[in-house]
Amino acid sequence: MAATPLTNPHTPLLQKTHQSHAFLKPKTTFHYGTSSKPFSISCSSTIQGRPSLRSHSQDRIFNFAAGPATLPENVLLKAQAELYNWRGSGMSVMEMSHRGKDFRSIIEKAEADLRALLNIPEDYAVLFLQGGATTQFASVPLNLCQPDDAVDYLVTGSWGDKAFKEAKKYCKPKVVWNGKSENYVRVPSFDGLELSPNAKYLHLCANETIYGVEFKNYPVPGNPNGVLVADMSSNFCSKPFDVTKFGLIYAGAQKNVGPSGVCIVIVRKYLIGNAQEITPGGLKEVEKKNERKAGVLYNAIDESKGFYRCPVEKSVRSLMNVPFTLEKSELEGEFLKEAEKEKMVQLKGHRSVGGMRASIYNAMSLAGVEKLVSFHEGFPGKAYLIHDSLYITAIVLLCLCTHFMFLLWFDFGRT
Ligand SMILES: Cc1ncc(COP(=O)(O)O)c(C=O)c1O
Repeated sequence: MAATPLTNPHTPLLQKTHQSHAFLKPKTTFHYGTSSKPFSISCSSTIQGRPSLRSHSQDRIFNFAAGPATLPENVLLKAQAELYNWRGSGMSVMEMSHRGKDFRSIIEKAEADLRALLNIPEDYAVLFLQGGATTQFASVPLNLCQPDDAVDYLVTGSWGDKAFKEAKKYCKPKVVWNGKSENYVRVPSFDGLELSPNAKYLHLCANETIYGVEFKNYPVPGNPNGVLVADMSSNFCSKPFDVTKFGLIYAGAQKNVGPSGVCIVIVRKYLIGNAQEITPGGLKEVEKKNERKAGVLYNAIDESKGFYRCPVEKSVRSLMNVPFTLEKSELEGEFLKEAEKEKMVQLKGHRSVGGMRASIYNAMSLAGVEKLVSFHEGFPGKAYLIHDSLYITAIVLLCLCTHFMFLLWFDFGRT
């Protein structure tokens, strides 16, 4: 790739490119992964031989952070050069449609490179996710087991401990070994481990970033149908490993393979699609829940025989804000007071409109809406029942009148 001439008005944003950097040289071929086949990836890095001090630019420091960590200079410079105009597209990657063909080619290449690098078989999916590795502490149990399922955790440091604590919210995890009492200085012998025979997975942190404890080989789950899950955040792509030993591997990118913001998950495809019911499933799922909640409330209003009214046309009724009025507006104050006693607040309509308004945003549970509906039905005990019984009385009177009329007419006919 040629260096971009820095002659545009935004030159100050683009630091000087160093002609001597590796990315300007021909592609380098690496031997990596468990595959014996060499392959090349174009985003090459100078890892051959002993790193020379001279290859380190004077305006860069040596950053020993545990992550976000130092990135290869040649990668930074290539990103810098491509940021202004990605391969003649006239825009940077940050401006492209994430569904467009340019971005797709970037992400597909990233996946293909990773598959080649780690020799990832076809029956594994590679996911580039947001939320950091921390999100996987919840995502793993949410996707791999049900609330009553047993799972095993090997705790060799504080990241493994955090993962275990998060799993407690979603299933029945057991710590099969904990190195805390020894200040996390070792990994246990696998022979003595009391692994659960029915655990859906065995979780470990392949490299505990804080304590510096790294697994050099891996245990096998106690359950022959269970899988091994590893948090590889801080040693991902630092050495070859056999992906097929694992059901799921996750790693925040910000240590060995990129900047922060991406978490890579490599997961056996058959493990996908069994998420617990409570797992957030994107906006389609959110919409379904909101439709259900709003449906329950609007139905109750519409079936109240006019006692409650929603003024909005049915086809455009909001799933978020449900305005309604009471047939007897003088009861509104009492409605609000009684609702508050029942721990339901902020039901007063906007001052410019009056009436009531129930805002049922995403976090409002169905239980909350159901409580409001049953309050609706019971409120105000008397008025609503009187209202209802008036209907019944009117119907009964009408029937009786008809009956008498009929009898009169019948008697009249006989005389
Ligand atoms: C081993 C390990 N797991 C998980 C995490 C959390 O990663 P993130 O910050 O991407 O959520 C870290 C962060 O340093 C880590 O070192």
